[in-house]
Amino acid sequence: METVIPRLLRDARHIAVLTGAGVSAESGIATFRDAQTGLWAKYRPEDLATPEAYQRNPRLVWEWYQWRRQVLSGVSPNPGHFALTEMEKRITGRGGQFTLITQNVDGLHRRAGSRNIVELHGNIGRVKCFAIGTIVETWEIAEDVPPRCPNCGGMLRPDVVWFGETLPPAALAQAIDAAETCDFFISAGTSTLVQPAASLPWLALQHNAFVLEINPNETPLTSFASAALHALSGEALPELVAAAFG
Ligand code: OAD
Repeated sequence: METVIPRLLRDARHIAVLTGAGVSAESGIATFRDAQTGLWAKYRPEDLATPEAYQRNPRLVWEWYQWRRQVLSGVSPNPGHFALTEMEKRITGRGGQFTLITQNVDGLHRRAGSRNIVELHGNIGRVKCFAIGTIVETWEIAEDVPPRCPNCGGMLRPDVVWFGETLPPAALAQAIDAAETCDFFISAGTSTLVQPAASLPWLALQHNAFVLEINPNETPLTSFASAALHALSGEALPELVAAAFG
């Protein structure tokens, strides 16, 4: 690893990290643009993760999320997730700031121990009412699928952002603020194709942050980033943390 990158990371006052599906790939979760497997292979996520798909066939969409929750219960955070937890400990331990902005809904960053997490696209572990949007903690398991909201009787849905929906405003504001105020920005495991998350590295560049991309493949960001590591995040992130703080 080039020595300037760990040095800049070590000296940063505020590190912001944007993660995408690639960071969970080494935990065994298919990325969004990878083919789905098993029973769900014939569906494209873009055809299931929309309000229209849910209205058309709520049972199908609910069952897809139930299947994804089941997959998640059998996987664990990988060394990339744990390296980000360590990075946060090191920088906050000496009075700096750390913001982890994730597009992932899988909750693996929290399970790995990260604390200051901005979930831009929600969390698959939470459920809300489709009609009024209230978060629901408990509900009756009945014949009826999806289950019903205990407050209004409306259908329940996962608390994730679907295609065509707006992002939670507070989370987006926090992410923009982090991109504008950080001095070191890492874009890891994301194709930087889906807006508005995809514009965050550019915002950081405009505000003079050092922007490091970690992705085995080229993305629209690669040639604009301050540096790019063509590597798996589960390998590059632990190496980076060891070189900066080890
Ligand atoms: P994508 O599936 O678009 O991209 C995953 C990226 O991870 C690709 O660029 C891969 O090259 C890279 N990658 C794969 N394995 C990796 C590894 N081990 N280490 C590092 N990188 C790796 O996923 P996202 O960019 O997260 O939105 O997609 C963004 C959003 O688009 C998702 O949150 C979802 C989707 O539509 C919503 O559902 C609203």
